[in-house]
Amino acid sequence: MDTYITARSIKRLREEKRITQSELAEKLGVSSKAVSKWETARGLPDISLIEPLAKSLGVSVIELMNGDYRINENVACNLKRSKFYVCPVCGNVVHATGAAVISCCGITLPEAEPETEAGVEVEQEDAMHKLEVMYTDSRHYVKLSHPMTKEHYISFIAYITDGHFEMKKLYPEGNAEADFLGRGHGLIVAYCNQHGLYRVRV
Ligand SMILES: [Fe+2]
Repeated sequence: MDTYITARSIKRLREEKRITQSELAEKLGVSSKAVSKWETARGLPDISLIEPLAKSLGVSVIELMNGDYRINENVACNLKRSKFYVCPVCGNVVHATGAAVISCCGITLPEAEPETEAGVEVEQEDAMHKLEVMYTDSRHYVKLSHPMTKEHYISFIAYITDGHFEMKKLYPEGNAEADFLGRGHGLIVAYCNQHGLYRVRV
């Protein structure tokens, strides 16, 4: 039977947090027997306990209920380790310096994973996602030979260095290009609404 929260999630999170069943029980004002029951699927926490339970386990309510945890390992906020979350329903683009749980249009957004790295040969059919970057007059000129139709287009191009982030939003019927003032070594990333994230080092 599907439940709103699984025994495995509670046990795993509690163990990762290195707290005992009785320590967790004490935080929540329940008996350790109750926690033991939750972790062996012989009982479920009362719905009023979900928020304090998530807090005690160091996750959001969404993560606790999905059993999908995201840990931000980029505590130094290195912009080059930025993450992007794009809503497949409304096209909302969220930039975060680390992994996060982002919800939009009623769904938890997946992290946009980069498809290519600098130096990696792109497949012939993937040539449209190749980022051509030219550096001239202190600017990076970025261009892709990619369709820009309503159904299939490059949604944004961003330039990211250690301390700077700049994003240019693109629209269907426009050009798949952008230019940025050079601020040293970094990454150029482009997002295709159908195929995801592509990046190149500059
Ligand atoms: Fe594409």
